[in-house]
Amino acid sequence: MKLVIFGPPSAGKGTQAQKLSQKYNIPQVSTGDLLRKAVAEGTPLGKKVKSYLEQGKLGPDNLIVELIKDRVSKPDARNGYLLDGFPRTMGQAKELEKMTDIDLVLNIVVDMEMLVERAVGRRGCPKDGSVYHIKFNPPKKDMVCDKCGGPLVQREDDKEETVRKRLQVYQEQTAPLIEYYRKKGKLVDIDGSGGIDAVFAQMVNTIDKLKK
Ligand code: AP5
Repeated sequence: MKLVIFGPPSAGKGTQAQKLSQKYNIPQVSTGDLLRKAVAEGTPLGKKVKSYLEQGKLGPDNLIVELIKDRVSKPDARNGYLLDGFPRTMGQAKELEKMTDIDLVLNIVVDMEMLVERAVGRRGCPKDGSVYHIKFNPPKKDMVCDKCGGPLVQREDDKEETVRKRLQVYQEQTAPLIEYYRKKGKLVDIDGSGGIDAVFAQMVNTIDKLKK
C-alpha cells in the first residue's frame, strides 16, 4: 500500500501519518523530518537545504527526489509506505510517477486561520519525533515528551511570519496537485477540521474501502 498524505502546512499530515504507520505497519516517510535531521546533523544535504527550511521555501526538486528514492528503497518500505510532505510540486509528482504507482492520495482540508493556530501552537520532541499542541494535544507535563521524557521544542519555521510564508508557498506550488490527482481518480478529501481521532477515523474508513 503506497499512500500520499497530502495537505497544507500543519493540517495534521505528520500526526495522522504516525497513527496510520502504526495501524498498517508501513513506514511514514516525511521529507520535512528527513530534511530537519539532515540539517541537525550538518550533512552535505543539510547544508544545502538549511536556508530553504528557515525561510519556509521548498528545497530543490532534484535533492528531494533523491532523498525519497533512497528512503523508499530501504527494506522496511518493501510492503509500502506513507508519503508525508511529498510530492509538493508538479515536478516531484511526475518523478514519483516514474518511480511507482500510488494507490491513494488523502487530502486533508483545513481552514487557513485554523492552520496558523495549529502551527504556532505545535511543540515537538526532537528525540523521538512525537508531535503535540499546546491547546489541542497537550503533553501530560508542560513541555515534556510523554513518551521519552525529553524536552519539547518549537520548530524554527513555526513562527507566525514563516507559517504564513509556507502557506503562500503551498497555495502557489503545491495546491495545484490537488486537481492533478483528482483527475486521475486517486484523491479523496478528508475533513481535517475535527479532532485528531475523528480525522483518523475518516482516513481508516477510506483506506479500508480501498483494500476491499
Ligand atoms: P514539513 O515538515 O513537511 O512541513 P509542512 O508541510 O509545513 O507540514 P507540517 O510538518 O508543518 O505539518 P503537518 O501537516 O505534518 O501537521 P502536524 O501533524 O505536525 O516541511 C518543512 C519544510 O521542509 C518545508 O517548508 C520545506 O522547506 C521543506 N520540505 C519538506 N518537504 C518538501 C518537499 N517535498 N519539497 C521541497 N521542500 C520540502 O500538526 C500540526 C499541529 O496541529 C500539531 O501541533 C498537532 O498536534 C496539531 N493537530 C494535528 N491534527 C489536529 C487536529 N485534527 N485537531 C487539532 N490539532 C491538530
